[in-house]
Amino acid sequence: MMNQSTNQSQKPQIQTRRPISNYEYLNPSREDDDSIMDGFHYKSGRRYHFLDGVKYPLPCDTDETYRLKLNYSISRYCWKGNLFYSPLENELAKGGMRVLDVGCGPGGWLLDMAAQFPNSTFVGVDISSMIPKDQQPSNMGFLQCNIHNGLPFPDDTFDFVFMSHMFTSITESQWQDVVDDLVRVAKPGGWIELMEGDYMNATSGPVTREIQAQTTILLRSRGINMNIGPNVYKYFENIVELENEIFTGQTVTPLGNGTVGELAFKNYKSSHFAVRLHEYMGISKQELEEMFKISQKEMDEYNTVLNIHRFYAQKKICTEKSEDSW
Ligand SMILES: C[S@@+](CC[C@H](N)C(=O)[O-])C[C@H]1O[C@@H](n2cnc3c(N)ncnc32)[C@H](O)[C@@H]1O
Repeated sequence: MMNQSTNQSQKPQIQTRRPISNYEYLNPSREDDDSIMDGFHYKSGRRYHFLDGVKYPLPCDTDETYRLKLNYSISRYCWKGNLFYSPLENELAKGGMRVLDVGCGPGGWLLDMAAQFPNSTFVGVDISSMIPKDQQPSNMGFLQCNIHNGLPFPDDTFDFVFMSHMFTSITESQWQDVVDDLVRVAKPGGWIELMEGDYMNATSGPVTREIQAQTTILLRSRGINMNIGPNVYKYFENIVELENEIFTGQTVTPLGNGTVGELAFKNYKSSHFAVRLHEYMGISKQELEEMFKISQKEMDEYNTVLNIHRFYAQKKICTEKSEDSW
């Protein structure tokens, strides 16, 4: 139960003073402390992508690589070590399977999969190169590419195509093209699995809700829909090459409670500083810190968890195209 008196005394002072305009946020210039070079934009000591069609708001630098590694470890713990749900365990163990991880980040999933299934081959693609060559086992490879230019593989290449936590990398208008491309590179009979969190639907207190609301507006200004996680399966629905059935799985990540919850909260909080939410809201870093202090207490009070969803589907063994050709 919520403690009313505590809540009164902690009544949040939420002030947004000088929100920087969308134009200013989306179109950084060389003025002030900005610099733009080689497809990157440097702001407040962080490095960001600055390329046409890439709306990803998170940085690409060493701190972010550590954050993504921590995020992967928390996620693996919450899924109780189940790295995937598609029914491919036996085939992967037998070997000879080709697997693609789209937006693989620092490669935590790929490295775990490559170790667990040494006779299958694993390939990661990402716009940033975060997996040192000498850490890649012989059954794993990496290609640096922008997925919005199309995946650099022929049709029908992979037995399993996996993509996780990519909702900040893909605008609402790009989602269908990306999912179509995942299906294109999957072999007939292969599986495609998506895993996304539900940022908005956690039970949360007023300050947390305000942080979420401001973040939603910030990302919407870049075309990103923060509510898309639980609905990404809809992009499977109109693809004729897929079997009709879409399978689902779900887990929760605690936020703020216990050892894992505290780590997950730390990670959640630092992602908001990484998108420079305070600048967008026109408040100081310290003021956003204060909001997060209250938010963390709220999370204990409200038992806040993040729901994480998996959706997986199979590509038809005989597509209409191949049936016609007979
Ligand atoms: C939130 S991370 C998720 C990483 C990993 N899939 C995971 O679940 O831990 C999003 C990843 O998408 C990558 N990314 C963003 N935009 C991209 C693009 N246009 N093409 C390829 N990768 C992109 C980022 O570099 C980052 O590694």
